[in-house]
Parts: sequence; structure tokens; C-alpha cells
Amino acid sequence: MDLADLNERLLDLVGGDPFADVRALSSEHQARHECGLHNAGGPVMSTIAAIVRSAGAQRVLDLGSGLGYSTLWLAHAGGPACHVTGIDADPEHTDAATLIAAERGFADRVTYLTGTVADVLPTLTGSYDLIHDDAWFADRPDHLDAAIELLRPGGTFTMANWFLLFDTLTQSQQEKWEHFAGSGWQQRTLDYAEHLASRPDVAVQWITSPPVGIATKRDGPSVGLDTPMAAISFRRTSEQVADVVLAWQRPDRPFFAAGACHILARQFVRRHSAYRVVAIQPRPGWKGAHVFATNGKQAFDFNGWSLEADLIRANVEASRAESPDWEFDLLPATDDFDEFCRSINCRTAELYPGDVEARADRFIDAIASTRVDGQSRG
Ligand SMILES: C[S@@+](CC[C@H](N)C(=O)[O-])C[C@H]1O[C@@H](n2cnc3c(N)ncnc32)[C@H](O)[C@@H]1O
Repeated sequence: MDLADLNERLLDLVGGDPFADVRALSSEHQARHECGLHNAGGPVMSTIAAIVRSAGAQRVLDLGSGLGYSTLWLAHAGGPACHVTGIDADPEHTDAATLIAAERGFADRVTYLTGTVADVLPTLTGSYDLIHDDAWFADRPDHLDAAIELLRPGGTFTMANWFLLFDTLTQSQQEKWEHFAGSGWQQRTLDYAEHLASRPDVAVQWITSPPVGIATKRDGPSVGLDTPMAAISFRRTSEQVADVVLAWQRPDRPFFAAGACHILARQFVRRHSAYRVVAIQPRPGWKGAHVFATNGKQAFDFNGWSLEADLIRANVEASRAESPDWEFDLLPATDDFDEFCRSINCRTAELYPGDVEARADRFIDAIASTRVDGQSRG
């Protein structure tokens, strides 16, 4: 017996698939329309259902809901107080799913919205306990940041389709998925997995059989927080201030503490849309500017992650140790980042002797891969 059959047998053991008829309708629809409506199957959905139950999820999103097979599983697992919103770009799918839900007595417990996930998510308000994503295939979805933003801290992001990662790593089914996902699907799938693994805002894990990905949104301070040092501890010499080539030769940490902190913050915010760039800007006549990324609670700079309040305090105390009257303003970056750089007397990216944005990306990756929950991974 192979693993797929074993998983079906295990599902039978716990009562079988309560929505086997909807699964059959989905398969028939896909066979007729070839619209990509491949349901995830009973074993995957019963595993996701177990997660819904253990999370006590009440507000749930189903991304790529098709005819509602997955939506009904989620609503059923969540119980009568749970509401699931399914999103699908194909109106034929959402129309059929609405009828199917009504026929099965779920009209009050599910809602379907028509549109691409990327278009619909920004229209939603409030936070969700669990978001299930079946609207991606062999690529990091363009809705990922928005989905994670909608999750409450501690909320769960479940994902179908990770058989692609296992087939990449075991070199199986190469031609089959190339047909669906085009060449390079292996690298793109791996890139997505690595991206999830390196994000500071989620902790991800995969189950191989049935194939499921599970990411939990970290609560703010559970990310490994550092006691931050003040940026002026890494102040450049006057020669390094005058000559950007000399500054460029500094190791990453001092380089991104002083002279390129704004580029680091900007690159971080490009990855993490819940964060924004903010400058500690000394009042005229004083030195000691520093730029960091913050979500209003946690901050990121050359220190790694710290509490924003700690980071500001460290910088203010260090500057006031030198000049007791030192005063500052907190300036959020404006939309035109180059203009913002010039306004706070910082170099724009093209004025560095190398690709400073790529260097910042590598520094962020290095910090993310060495520390999770304050501990070394290696
Ligand atoms: C693999 S099927 C999953 C169906 C459903 N979850 C189930 O288990 O039966 C993917 C569904 O997502 C929809 N879809 C794919 N990409 C989408 C996107 N970016 N935005 C909205 N819907 C999308 C497709 O129309 C299709 O119905």
C-alpha cells in the first residue's frame, strides 16, 4: 500500500470524507473545464481540519476556494460559531460554491468573494485565526504578505501543494509538474520555502504525508529580541564619512549601523510590509541620526530585532551621554525614498561603490538564518 492509500485508509478510520460528494463535483468540474480546480483531497483537508479544531479557529479564510470543498471542511471543523470566507477568482466557482453550501446547510457559515486573492485581501478588515492557502502553485504568491498581515498573532497559515517541495527535494514527478508550472518550478518552490523559513514573523513546518505546510504567526516579542546597541557606538571616522569607498570596506555590522542604516531598513521593509522606515533625526546642530524598520512594537536594524522602545532609548541615552541637551524627532519615511534619504542627509543607493541593496539583503538573510527565538539554528 502506498502512502496515498494509507492516508485514505486512515481517513476512513475516522469516519471518511464528509464532503466526498463535493470533492467528486470538483473533480468532474476540473475534468470538464480544466480550470486548475484540483481539490487538495480528503487526507490533506482532514489534517487541516485537525489544525482548525486545535486552534479553535473562528474567523477563517480559504484562499482559492473552488467549489467550496475545502471551505466546507474548514467550516465543519470550526463548528457552528466558525465563519469561513472563501475567495476565488473564477465567478463560476464562487457561484457554484454558494449553491453547494446552501444545499448542505452551511449558508450562514460560509461566504464567497469573487476576485484574485491579491485584490480581495486588502478589502478585508479585522484579523483571522486561520488562513488556508490553495491559491498558489510553485511560486511565492503575491498575496503572501497581505495574508500574514491579516492573521492574528499566534494565528495559523496552512498551505496545500507542498508536495512540490518534496518532489523537488526527492527529484520525483519532474516532468509532471513542469507541464503545470513551467520550467524552473523546482527553484521557485525552493525559494518560496526558504523565504517562509527566513521570515521573522512566522514559524513554518512541513508535514510530508499528507503534504501540508503550517506557519504560525509569531507574537511580537517571541522573535529573538536583542538588547540593542546605539548606532553611534559604530560611528564612522571622519575619513570614512568623507570617502564612501572606505566606509564600504567596513564589516557589515558597523557598515549597516552607521552610513547605510537607512538602506538596511528600506530593504527590510520591502520584505515585510507590516514594517515601515523611521528615522531618529537629531534637531539641527546635533549628530546621531539613525534609521530603522518598525511595526510600531518591534524594530529591526543592525542589531537584529529589538523592541522599538528599547532601540530608541539606547540611541537617545548614548547621544545624551555626549550632549545632555540632545533632542530629536522621529520621522517616518515618505513615499519617495530617495527624496527622504536626501532630506535626512543620507546617500541614495546608487551613490555606494557596490550594490548596497544586495549587501543589505544578504545581511538580513544572515541574521534571519542564525537566530530563531533568540537561539542559534546551527
Ligand atoms: C487547486 S484549486 C483549490 C480548490 C479548493 N481549495 C478545493 O480544495 O477544492 C485552486 C483554486 O484557486 C483559484 N485560484 C488560483 N489562483 C488564484 C488567485 N490568485 N486568486 C483567486 N483564486 C485563485 C482557482 O480558480 C481554483 O478554483
